[in-house]
Amino acid sequence: MDVRPADNLAVGLPALFESMAGAVEHAWAATNRSPDDLPLIAAEVLDRHRTELTRLSFADIAEEALATRGPQLNADSPFGNPPITWLMADHFCIESYLWLENSTGIHDHGFNGAWMNLVGNSIHRQFQFDGAETLSPSLRVGSLIPINWEILEPGDIRQIPRGSEFIHDLFHLHRPTVTLIIRSFSKHSRDAPRLQQSYTGFGDCSFARDSFGRPDWEVLQKRLMYSLDAVTPDLAFDLFSRRLGEDSLETALMMLKFIILHLKPEPRAAYLRAFKAAYGPVAGRLVEALLLYRQNYTLLLFRRLAEDPEDMLLFGLLREPTDLTTVLERISTTTKASNPEIWLFERLRSISDRAQGQDTEWAIRLDEAALVALRNQLTGRSEPSGDYSAEDLALQSFFLSHQSPLQVLWK
Ligand SMILES: [Fe+2]
Repeated sequence: MDVRPADNLAVGLPALFESMAGAVEHAWAATNRSPDDLPLIAAEVLDRHRTELTRLSFADIAEEALATRGPQLNADSPFGNPPITWLMADHFCIESYLWLENSTGIHDHGFNGAWMNLVGNSIHRQFQFDGAETLSPSLRVGSLIPINWEILEPGDIRQIPRGSEFIHDLFHLHRPTVTLIIRSFSKHSRDAPRLQQSYTGFGDCSFARDSFGRPDWEVLQKRLMYSLDAVTPDLAFDLFSRRLGEDSLETALMMLKFIILHLKPEPRAAYLRAFKAAYGPVAGRLVEALLLYRQNYTLLLFRRLAEDPEDMLLFGLLREPTDLTTVLERISTTTKASNPEIWLFERLRSISDRAQGQDTEWAIRLDEAALVALRNQLTGRSEPSGDYSAEDLALQSFFLSHQSPLQVLWK
């Protein structure tokens, strides 16, 4: 990727965004600024400027962003590294998000708009949330069903309709990836503000929760539990257990969602058992969602082992609890690999090599016997190989099939 500063921009970005904002304003005013009309209008304006926009290099964008002096919508937000507000109109704004390693969680939106990938590719997944059962005004349990999987490239545009009809996430393959969005301001919306929901889990074990406007004491609880667990883990568990009868299921769930990322296996099991015992059958589904959340979190910590966008694609595939056939199909359609099994094996082997010598317990650090078992699994072979008997390999295969994040390859 060319990251040298351009000698001169064909069009100054501020002028380009002014022109785009004028086009949005004009078309939207003609619909009496109906919120539901903005996604299509924004997408059409992005589409009309696709040529100029996709000609921008990362260096062009960075140079213009450093020079910007306008108001920023969410300068401190972790959504983007950083988010960049290019232009704020009365009822909408034009923003970019620069992405390094963070990808989004699964979420819907409290605003309307459309976005385009400017630099870099992203895995884009869409979901629907079925059979939702309300546990509190801001928490629902239900089934999160995947309905689309695609790779977005520079110039690809998708609309964002507000609400739970459009649930998605993005996993960025290039470092950096930059997106451009035209979106409404929820604070200027004529409708009652709708809070964005975040979704945790997959399939039947999933929950949706308001992700903005949370009270400060939730942050206090999380930070305190983290510190208590670090210095007095017994006290941390004791206090958590005593809160279980006092606090709502939602409050306990949020504490657990945070602390589960830091707990070692034994205390983790104790926390989860206590939570299930306190809140009954529905807590079992929530625990499954939390375990998947933790598994994804752990996997993403190791993205630093990725050397290129294809390694990143592999991480993006392994995080999803699908099956081997789906993973191989997606490799076939998104890479030029003529043999997806071999592509997958070689990628895992090279990432495993890079993991050697690193201070990690990650399962992907594969020894020779594990590599043979892995290759057999991917190619459908079962005969013994080299120095390893069929029993050795069956045992290796058993271990790998229970290791995060490789289980998906045994389904
Ligand atoms: Fe989004």
